Amino acid sequence: MAAETTPEIIITPVKNEGELMQALALREIVFIEEQSVPESMERDEDDATALHVLAMAGGHAVGTGRLVVLSAPPAGEVGKWGRIGRMAVLQAHRRSGVGSKLLATLEAEARKRNIDGIMLHAQLSAMDFYKRHGYVPNGAVFEEAGMPHLEMKRRLSAN
Ligand SMILES: CC(C)(COP(=O)(O)OP(=O)(O)OC[C@H]1O[C@@H](n2cnc3c(N)ncnc32)[C@H](O)[C@@H]1OP(=O)(O)O)[C@@H](O)C(=O)NCCC(=O)NCCS
Repeated sequence: MAAETTPEIIITPVKNEGELMQALALREIVFIEEQSVPESMERDEDDATALHVLAMAGGHAVGTGRLVVLSAPPAGEVGKWGRIGRMAVLQAHRRSGVGSKLLATLEAEARKRNIDGIMLHAQLSAMDFYKRHGYVPNGAVFEEAGMPHLEMKRRLSAN
């Protein structure tokens, strides 16, 4: 009997409009359909300038995330900062490392752009995921898109 093989996960930066459409389609499934985030909030002006990445498994897009370079660092920080967000993995592919790979790729892309630190708005349910990757909560819980969130930060540079 042939052993079942799990397709390799390949993370690729979005290079064209068609791939961006695949990223937005994944976000529609995860945020708009699964989490009931209003479409008007899910899509924003940062999509046009962000670096988007796709996680591909066996030729299918199963996850996405994006990096936005911030025009100013968060309060209390200096240097060049980025914001990671819209991290979404299809339910059937969760808890097998896809999200971690997406995050690591976005952080590597941030380093290539000489970004000193990353901030993000984590859903409370995803806080432990980001903690495991070195992100530290900052401030109080707030409501965004109808769900409790926390700001979290991680410095990438040594200083
Ligand atoms: C958050 C999200 C992107 C994480 O993606 P993921 O592919 O499940 O991430 P990983 O598999 O790398 O890690 C997730 C968890 O699985 C665990 N895990 C990883 N591999 C595992 C394995 N083989 N067996 C069991 N657990 C495993 C990790 O320790 C981690 O645990 P934690 O969540 O308790 O901290 C995904 O859950 C998601 O799309 N959620 C819905 C949208 C969302 O909330 N996005 C974040 C907005 S801030």
